Amino acid sequence: MNILIGGAWPYANGSLHIGHLASLLGGDVLARYYRIKGDRVLYVSGSDCHGTPITLRARKEGVAPGDIAERYHREFEDCFKRLGFSYDVYGHTYSEEHKVFVKEFLSDLYHKNRLYEKQIDQTYCPVCSQFLPDRFVSGLCPHCHKPARGDQCDACGSLLDLTQLIDKSCGICGNAPEIRPTRHLFLALSEYEKALRQWVEQAQGWRANALGMTLRYLDEGLVDRAVTRDIDWGIDVPIEGYEDKKIYVWVEAVLGYLSTSAQAARNYDWDFKDFWDSSSPSLHYYIHGKDNIPFHSVILPALLLAKGDLKLPDRIISSEYENLEGRKISTSGNWAIWVQELLDRYDPDSIRYFFIANGPEKRDADFSWREFIGCHNTDLVNQLGNLVHRTLVFLKKSYDLTVPQGSLEPVIKSAIDKAYAQSGQAIETGNFREALEAVNQLVRLGNRYFDEQKPWVTIKEDKGLCDQSLYNLLQIIANLTRLLAPFTPFAARKLTSLLHLRNQDQDCALRLKTGPGWIPIAIPSGQKLNEPAPLFQRLDIKLAEDEQKRLLAGIL
Ligand code: MF3
Ligand code: ZN
Repeated sequence: MNILIGGAWPYANGSLHIGHLASLLGGDVLARYYRIKGDRVLYVSGSDCHGTPITLRARKEGVAPGDIAERYHREFEDCFKRLGFSYDVYGHTYSEEHKVFVKEFLSDLYHKNRLYEKQIDQTYCPVCSQFLPDRFVSGLCPHCHKPARGDQCDACGSLLDLTQLIDKSCGICGNAPEIRPTRHLFLALSEYEKALRQWVEQAQGWRANALGMTLRYLDEGLVDRAVTRDIDWGIDVPIEGYEDKKIYVWVEAVLGYLSTSAQAARNYDWDFKDFWDSSSPSLHYYIHGKDNIPFHSVILPALLLAKGDLKLPDRIISSEYENLEGRKISTSGNWAIWVQELLDRYDPDSIRYFFIANGPEKRDADFSWREFIGCHNTDLVNQLGNLVHRTLVFLKKSYDLTVPQGSLEPVIKSAIDKAYAQSGQAIETGNFREALEAVNQLVRLGNRYFDEQKPWVTIKEDKGLCDQSLYNLLQIIANLTRLLAPFTPFAARKLTSLLHLRNQDQDCALRLKTGPGWIPIAIPSGQKLNEPAPLFQRLDIKLAEDEQKRLLAGIL
């Protein structure tokens, strides 16, 4: 099977925070899992580098928009690398290849008459000499006369025509904007409404938020969208008469899934069509936060339908929000934890583990330092680390690090089989917490088994029984190298080397070979292990409380 996984493209106007991370991690779990399973995976994303917020930030800092985009793109690349995200291509939207792809795509739509031209009135600020995006126009609501911003009045809930706001002011400089006519190219979303509804109604495996929101948009009726903007930072519109405009940032960003997967397919000598032709057997996942839903469930599919013969999204995996200490994350209000900050202090697996085990999958999730440290100490140190360490230390003391003779006991075998079946099924359906819990069940069973078997007693009284217990414990641990690989890849790799196993799973992540399958592993009797070393260090809860205070102090 060909699997395409599209992670959302973070906007390159500010640092990555835990909210981004919580919504994106599932993509890497999927990618690593499907590669081990033996499927052909293209996992792509990149930095979203155009649009107004970047130009505003650049203006404020007195630098070029490209400098801002590049600065954050570099940071994102670095963060994802340190976190172990296994993107096949992580690109950016100012690459030549992306620009060429997008221009060809739009030009093709234009020549197939899929875009139409319309003159509209827009607010223009003569002081800033630019047309203003919706949310940069404020004034009084024509209905309730309360202050309103953008195209919606929060006070009375009316949808507004921006030009009708009373006493308008420019959100950048505060001066009064004027109304100017301007021409734009539009995509007739209304024409695809029926096709989209059919597609949504037979969709399977979407998160409930994505399905609900998309059906609501369809019920309300889709409004045609301009695909061009009066802005000077973006991709040129490849059509005569549009030389002073750029392509709407959302339109080109979602096309990044195609431009980067073309690049990734080429790198592996695979055929792009095997992934994207509407008739090819492939499965497409899109992973992002819920504010991205309409762009993946309406705009992207409408563009794909307009182009024709391209595969529409299969599974839309949209997260709810990650809060911080019970409050909504706000980058402008300085209420955020930056990914770099976490990476500078903690093991990337501890970070991955926390945000997968407590991910905002069905409802908002909350980060607190105390819970983060608690989760690390309980699950990674007391359960996983303890199982591995006491088994390997015992093996060293009593067996010279050599796997004894034994046979797999039926209860252990069925627990291992169950861990693969349940976690695999849960990952495929985007239920990452449940998947991790299935693996944790095996870890806990391993610890209970160790306690019940009492090898420290049987080693003196019944050597045969002790051999058998150790053999079974080692089979559990060997399987954790594979079962944990999608979630905590660094620990999985370390464990592989402690067990002196050859790491086929890592090889397949590097595409040296096809994945071995999401199936049990055996470690043979007689195999000599490497010197034991703890997988994780216990963290000090006191330190975490200090972090929390420091954080609160920065805010209040
Ligand atoms: N840049 C957008 C954001 O940060 C996400 C874009 S996802 C894409 O919300 F698919 F459009 F690229
Ligand atoms: Zn202005």
